[in-house]
This record gives sequence, structure tokens and C-alpha cells, in this order.
Amino acid sequence: MSQLLCIFLYSLCALISGYSEENRVRDLMSKYPLIDGHNDLALQLRKLYDNHMSQIDLYNVSTIATDINRLLAGHVQAQMFSVYVMCGAQEKDAVRLTLEQIDVLRRMCSMYKDFELVTSTQELRDSFLKHKIACMLSVEGGHSIDSSLPALRMFYQLGVRSMALTHTCNTPWAESSSKIYRFYQRQNNSLTSFGKAVVKEMNRLGMIIDLSHSSWATATAVLHLSKAPVIFSHSSAYAVCENDRNVPDWLLRHLKKNQGLIMVNLHSNFISCKNEANISLVADHFDHIKKVIGAESIGIGSDFEGAVSFPEGLDDVSKYPALIQELLQRNWTEQEMADVLRRNFLRVFDAVEKIRDELVLEPPSEAQISMEEVQNPCRLVLRPPSPGFPSDRVSHSSSALHRATALLISCALLLPSTLNFL
Ligand SMILES: *[C@@H]1O[C@H](CO)[C@@H](O)[C@H](O)[C@H]1NC(C)=O
Ligand SMILES: *[C@@H]1O[C@H](CO)[C@@H](O)[C@H](O)[C@H]1NC(C)=O
Ligand SMILES: *[C@@H]1O[C@H](CO)[C@@H](O)[C@H](O)[C@H]1NC(C)=O
Ligand SMILES: *[C@@H]1O[C@H](CO)[C@@H](O)[C@H](O)[C@H]1NC(C)=O
Ligand SMILES: [Zn+2]
Repeated sequence: MSQLLCIFLYSLCALISGYSEENRVRDLMSKYPLIDGHNDLALQLRKLYDNHMSQIDLYNVSTIATDINRLLAGHVQAQMFSVYVMCGAQEKDAVRLTLEQIDVLRRMCSMYKDFELVTSTQELRDSFLKHKIACMLSVEGGHSIDSSLPALRMFYQLGVRSMALTHTCNTPWAESSSKIYRFYQRQNNSLTSFGKAVVKEMNRLGMIIDLSHSSWATATAVLHLSKAPVIFSHSSAYAVCENDRNVPDWLLRHLKKNQGLIMVNLHSNFISCKNEANISLVADHFDHIKKVIGAESIGIGSDFEGAVSFPEGLDDVSKYPALIQELLQRNWTEQEMADVLRRNFLRVFDAVEKIRDELVLEPPSEAQISMEEVQNPCRLVLRPPSPGFPSDRVSHSSSALHRATALLISCALLLPSTLNFL
């Protein structure tokens, strides 16, 4: 009897003080901790510390939104860390910078016992059992591969398991949602034949294709071509906030057919189309996408460290529980929340690996982009001039061009003297 009374009083207390909701969220998130689709911590490590990991205590970095203590408090079990280099590096040293960002993340993920680099769904599941925060590497922007499938494959070897086809710049083979850079602004650039080869090679390798930042035309072309489900790692609903980085309903429906995933971006400008937002507006994006394509197509891709303004009460990696609480209050079921928190992502990653296994007999693609398409003066082409080749690529490379020019000049100088001599 007294026991019953205790339980009753406890429940009443919990109800009045509001603790029960928080406990419910905590229990749910302990069972289904978050896999977040996008965090730009590596960009901050570059900008603030020039990648000097020795100068940082990553448990407590009060100047930014991400550190290990707060990841743990926020029930973040896995994070796709973005390997991002500025578009300004395109046609310059994008590949070197990308390698350096992969390096700093790999160092970070082995330095701290709470982190673990994972490269498969099995490792991802195991990392949960080992109480680790799984680090996944995701290249943000196809300019990082400098139009080279060998570079793409080597990034895979280094642990990269996802790539966004573009950032805010077009590549020679795919189109960005943004027009702020002038790189490769061409007609019909949405997915060139080399772009199609990139998509196929990512399917073959088992790399998740990320369409955040790509133009809707590019996204549509990829959705028609990809054998594996794709993700938008950090994009929200265009119907709620008309920003080109968000996904319109018609494209969401394509995504559903592909069994892919949209991981909702929390950046205020993509939530409210203003600099300020609140958790309720974030939940509106979730409600809307659920209405259009169902909770089984939704995840969370915060974009912390990649953007500056975040909704009140959702401004660092410890705050995810507040969002989950809001969605539960809006009658999202615990099963739906478990899907959003991690099961949807695991399903997509599983499917990407399954396609890879199905394609195991396909040889690595030897597709190359034509020099006409890249027009990159930094490219040195070592192939010897050969009349048998369909196109003489050597003449386009800068050093070869210099050599050819020098030859021409010496010919021009020699010719008159030779004539004189004769
Ligand atoms: C984190 O570091 C800041 C100063 O950088 C300090 O004020 C704060 O107390 C630290 N917090 C924890 C939990 O250690
Ligand atoms: C672009 O594609 C459209 C339709 O696919 C075609 O009509 C048009 O001629 C193409 N333009 C160029 C420059 O290739
Ligand atoms: C969130 O922001 C919207 C738009 O500014 C406002 O209408 C709404 O009342 C806010 N909600 C809460 C719970 O503060
Ligand atoms: C949630 O469900 C309850 C009970 O069915 C209902 O009274 C309430 O209005 C619903 N809330 C929302 C936000 O849909
Ligand atoms: Zn981004």
C-alpha cells in the first residue's frame, strides 16, 4: 500500500516538475543515441588552431559548439565529420588540403579514447556497444577529388565513406545549388558523363552519395542513376523555408523512391530563413517532411561548426534532447524517434554496403575527364604525345604548353639563321 502511494506521489511529483518528459527523452536517447549527419569541427580545427591538435583539449572547447563533454551530454553516438576545403582551393591545392583535413580528423579520432573511427555499419554498431563516439569521414564537395576517380578511391582507402558531390561551387561534372562561385558555369552541367562515372564509382565502392549543396537538377539526375540510397546530410524543407539549400517536396518524393534520407539542418537561416529561429520552427520542418515522405526518411544533420546561427536552446551539441522532447510532445512515437535518431541512417548505410557487395565483380572505373572539360592549368599530364591517341592531351597541360611554346620560339629564331646560313 505504502509502496503504491510512493509510486503515485513520485509520478505526481515528476508530472508537476516536468522531470518525466526529460527522463523519457534521456531513456530513449540512451537506447537510440544519435547519429548526426554533418559537423564541421575539422574546419574549426583548421581555422582556430591550424590543425595543432596538441594545443587543444577537445573535452572542453568553450569557444565552439562541439566538444566531447557536450557530445556525451547530447547523446551523440556517431558523428559524420565533414572533410571540407574552401571552394577557393578548386583548381589549386584542394587535394592536399583535403588530405590534411582527413589527417586531422584521423588524428583526433585516435587521440581521444571516447572516439573511434568507423568505416562500416558493423563497426558503427560495435562502437555503440563499446561506448564510443563513432567518427565517420565525409568529404564535403566534389572539388576535393579534382575530377579524379583514383583520388576518390584513395580517399575511400583513408576511411572516407561519404561525399557531397558539390559544395558552393560547381565542379566540372556536377552543379551546385549556389551561384556564388564562377567555376564551371555551363549549360547542362548537372551531371556530365564524368559525373555519372563518379556516381557509379561511389556505388561500387560503397560510399554514401550526399546531395546537400547540389542543385536540384543534379540531385534529380543522381536520384535517377544511383543504385544505392542517397542522403541529404544537412538540408531542411524548402516548403517551410525557401532557401535553395533546402529540399522541395517534389524532390523529397524522388528521395523516398530511392529510399534515401534527409538529415534536417538546424542552422537558423535554413529553418526560418532568418538569423533567428526556435525549436518549434525546427520541429515544423520535421512535421512537414514526415507528412510528405514519412518519418522513415528523416534524420538529423546539425551543421554545427559549419554555420553561425542556431535556434535558441539548440545552439550546441549537448542540446539535441530539447529537440527530441519537442517532437515527442508533438506525438511522434518512440519508434519514429528511434528511426530519426539512428535506425534510418543505419538502414541507408546497410543498403549502400549491400550494393557495394552486389557490384563486387565490377572493376574500378578507369573513366577520365577530358582536358577540355577541366581546363585546369595546374594539371600536369604525363602521358607522352602519341598520334594514336584520340585527343592529344599533352598540349593542354601548362608545362607541356610552355615547352611547346619554347620550342616554337626557338624554331622561329633558328629558322632565319638557318636560312642565312644556307
Ligand atoms: C571549460 O573551459 C573554460 C575555459 O576555457 C572554463 O571556464 C570551464 O570551467 C571549463 N569547463 C569544464 C566543464 O571544464
Ligand atoms: C542542354 O540540354 C537540353 C535538354 O536536355 C538541350 O535541349 C540543349 O540543347 C542542351 N544544351 C547544350 C548547350 O548542350
Ligand atoms: C518560434 O518562433 C516563431 C516565429 O518567430 C513564433 O511565432 C513562435 O511563437 C515561436 N515559438 C516559441 C515556442 O517560442
Ligand atoms: C497528441 O495526441 C493527443 C492525444 O491523442 C492530443 O490530445 C493532442 O492534441 C496531440 N497533440 C498534437 C500536437 O498533435
Ligand atoms: Zn555544408
